[in-house]
Amino acid sequence: MDIAIIGAGNVGKALATSFARAGHTVTIASRDPQDADSIAAATGATVAASNDAAAETADIIVLALPFDSFADVAAEIADAAAGKVVVDVSNRMSFGSNGPDIDTTSSNAEALAALLPGSQVVKAFNTLFASNQDDPIADGIQLDGFVAADDATARQTVLDLVASIGLDPVDVGPLARARQLEGLAFLNITLNIAHAGSWQSGWKLVGAPDTGKRAA
Ligand SMILES: NC(=O)c1ccc[n+]([C@@H]2O[C@H](COP(=O)([O-])OP(=O)(O)OC[C@H]3O[C@@H](n4cnc5c(N)ncnc54)[C@H](OP(=O)(O)O)[C@@H]3O)[C@@H](O)[C@H]2O)c1
Repeated sequence: MDIAIIGAGNVGKALATSFARAGHTVTIASRDPQDADSIAAATGATVAASNDAAAETADIIVLALPFDSFADVAAEIADAAAGKVVVDVSNRMSFGSNGPDIDTTSSNAEALAALLPGSQVVKAFNTLFASNQDDPIADGIQLDGFVAADDATARQTVLDLVASIGLDPVDVGPLARARQLEGLAFLNITLNIAHAGSWQSGWKLVGAPDTGKRAA
């Protein structure tokens, strides 16, 4: 697959590494060209001159960005991303009087879908720390790669992508399930914060039902 990754931080680097290892063609864009250059040097990815240029050449566009950049980047890539799969890997957390919290009535992914109505937005990879996006085995166990999307074809495409990098793909249904996927990530993050974890923990649903839509 031809994959554009927009954002060259921890997730951009981890996914560029695992996608390239799986034989995909990867293009990466970043605000600071040096960040994309160093990932390209390490992975064999190609550096794009802009977010828009990266999206233009790809079949699948992965936003490896903080959610607060989504509105700006969506406006930049909307035309180039029309009719394409856009993968949201983002997580979120707010802080109130009871400490870290999450709004379970919305999701970043649904907000992104509203920003990119011409694209097929898919939630994936967010439940894995960057280290496990690169290496999908934790404690000797193959971690799950949960995928949510409203468009069934886009969901299947990303299930196949998830499987190609060694994760166990799990089809969780429509994009609104991103609320729960963002909740799973929130729980893993808060456990590591509260207990000084090593940030190596990940999710595996044992005895999962066969959804009939695993990797093709
Ligand atoms: N880290 C993890 O383990 C992990 C796991 C699962 C999901 N996530 C989610 O993945 C997303 C990225 O996390 P991360 O850890 O990779 O963050 P990060 O290391 O801070 O990297 C974010 C990258 O996005 C870039 N960026 C921001 N706005 C941009 C724009 N308008 N155009 C192009 N690039 C832009 C940043 O560039 P600058 O350096 O110029 O700001 C930076 O390279 C977040 O939504 C996070 O919640 C993270």
